[in-house]
Amino acid sequence: MGRLREAGAPLAHERIVAMYNYRLLEKLLFLPFHRLNEKRLEAACRHKTVLITGASSGIGEKLAFKLGYLPVHLILVARRGDKLLAMKRDIERSSARVSVYRADLRNAGEREGLLSMIHRLPDGIDIVVSNAGLSINRSIMDSLDRNHDFTRTMAINYFAPVELLLSLMPLLKSTQGHVINISTINTSLAPLPGWAAYQASKTAFDTWLRSASPELHGAGIATTSIYFPLVRTPMIEPTAAYSQMPAMSPEHAADIIAKSMYARRRTWMPWWLPFGQLVSVLFRGALERAAARKLRGRGR
Ligand SMILES: NC(=O)c1ccc[n+]([C@@H]2O[C@H](COP(=O)([O-])OP(=O)(O)OC[C@H]3O[C@@H](n4cnc5c(N)ncnc54)[C@H](OP(=O)(O)O)[C@@H]3O)[C@@H](O)[C@H]2O)c1
Repeated sequence: MGRLREAGAPLAHERIVAMYNYRLLEKLLFLPFHRLNEKRLEAACRHKTVLITGASSGIGEKLAFKLGYLPVHLILVARRGDKLLAMKRDIERSSARVSVYRADLRNAGEREGLLSMIHRLPDGIDIVVSNAGLSINRSIMDSLDRNHDFTRTMAINYFAPVELLLSLMPLLKSTQGHVINISTINTSLAPLPGWAAYQASKTAFDTWLRSASPELHGAGIATTSIYFPLVRTPMIEPTAAYSQMPAMSPEHAADIIAKSMYARRRTWMPWWLPFGQLVSVLFRGALERAAARKLRGRGR
């Protein structure tokens, strides 16, 4: 599997600090920075097989490159096969072995193909990072003839990870493996207008995994739900309002996921999320009225 790091190359935390490049508000919102303990990460991942869905872009892509320094077997999945192949060429210059699988995870036949490939692996699977996702920002009144927005988001954000995990559960049980769900703070905050398809589908899988977790823990499978705030990836580019809002860097997000591989904590969330949850519960009526007033003000 090769070396871990070139002699003289920067330590992971040096790379991290150099890359975050946050404004003051972002520094405050995303503290504390999660410096990776490379030794613990390597010990947790050495010779393990890690599946990353949605590895061709954003958070999944950064995570694949981060783990590429380790002696692991990465299975990268997404629809853009060419992009995954280019990543494989780059990553395999370091330590990891990379298998790419081009699949639209909404498609039953392509999911089955991926699953049968994983079931044929001699050492099974150790870590599943359920990351592939689709977001849609559209008001309900603009969605009246767009039921497919709701079926598509449910297909990739809910049904696909459920089916993958149901099939992979016996393998994860035999390796005492780990499921990491890339969730969002929105699953526990007052829902925002315009995001019904995304928020409902992300909340569905978050709730599914939370409900399944006690059984999984009983079977020796660890679970981690990571509640990310806004992360500056291609996913948020179509939403103009997000361009000036504080957002976590995808490198930082990848560090948080990598850290969860050895810390195996059940959840990660920004420090301020519990306060947001409290406000969402206590002031639900006031928040809904304020949102309605704002939309009326815009003539919606
Ligand atoms: N960005 C944020 O602000 C934010 C915040 C909280 C949580 N998240 C979550 O983080 C995860 C990653 O998002 P990101 O921000 O990194 O977005 P991104 O850059 O748009 O990446 C999404 C990934 O999902 C893959 N994907 C989408 N539909 C797919 C399908 N049908 N089949 C297979 N793969 C599919 C995409 O690959 P292909 O297009 O090549 O298929 C891509 O690799 C998502 O689950 C998202 O909900 C994001």
